[in-house]
Amino acid sequence: MTLATLAGRLHRLSLTRDGDNAIAWPDRLTDEDWCFSHDLLSHPDLAETEARRLAFWEAVNFFSLNFHGERPLMAGLAARAGSAAYGTVAPYLAAFEREEAAHSAMFATFCERYAGRLYPEKTIATSRRQDPVEPEILFFAQTLFFEELMDLYNRRMAEDPLLHPVIRRIHALHHRDETGHILFGRRILRDLVTRHDPDRGALRRHLMGFVRLTWMQLYNADAYRDAGLDEVYARRNRAWVAQTGFRHAMTQTAGHHLLALGLLDTEVLP
Ligand SMILES: [Fe+2]
Ligand SMILES: [Fe+2]
Repeated sequence: MTLATLAGRLHRLSLTRDGDNAIAWPDRLTDEDWCFSHDLLSHPDLAETEARRLAFWEAVNFFSLNFHGERPLMAGLAARAGSAAYGTVAPYLAAFEREEAAHSAMFATFCERYAGRLYPEKTIATSRRQDPVEPEILFFAQTLFFEELMDLYNRRMAEDPLLHPVIRRIHALHHRDETGHILFGRRILRDLVTRHDPDRGALRRHLMGFVRLTWMQLYNADAYRDAGLDEVYARRNRAWVAQTGFRHAMTQTAGHHLLALGLLDTEVLP
């Protein structure tokens, strides 16, 4: 199947789903409600009451991270949907952007209703080398890694019977749309890499920085503080070290297609 055929199919599928995004928002969540799968917490080695409190704030962190990640994605999709270079796939890029806008609204609603806010975006200063890289490949590679990693969480939490139904519903809706985004992303990235044969070393350096930054945002000391934990920075640092094997396994699974294209470096996984 060509990229254009795949995009056409995904576009028609997106149109049939328009409007099927209803969520029954409960008035409130209680301390008894699980909002994040226990074994996916950044700091799983807690007693149950503490873990459940952290689960709520890690849900807020996860949805905030997705919200902030979708902003540059939507801008990038809108620019490309209006570009002649993407002529045959432009209608799907516009549908992809609309789906992301709906996700962002869903994540913001959860955070504002139950936490009163989103966590701010973490911008971490990096002394990034300014290697020249192919911008189209970098855009679709970052998008694909982000969506593949977040979708590992979506898939697990959509099916976790211990979670509150509103959490399962949010993850199920997100996973439904991300399945199309990921299929499209894998395909367009493969086509772009084949066509441009880019400098993979430069791309790997950029992408490994992006992978590290994405993971760092899943270890948020503010969430630990909001959950009532003490020594939040020391805890976060210990959790980061203790969870290295988990992160590597998740990165290898989420980065499977990038690894196959030579765009990730398993020697320097965060
Ligand atoms: Fe999304
Ligand atoms: Fe997406």
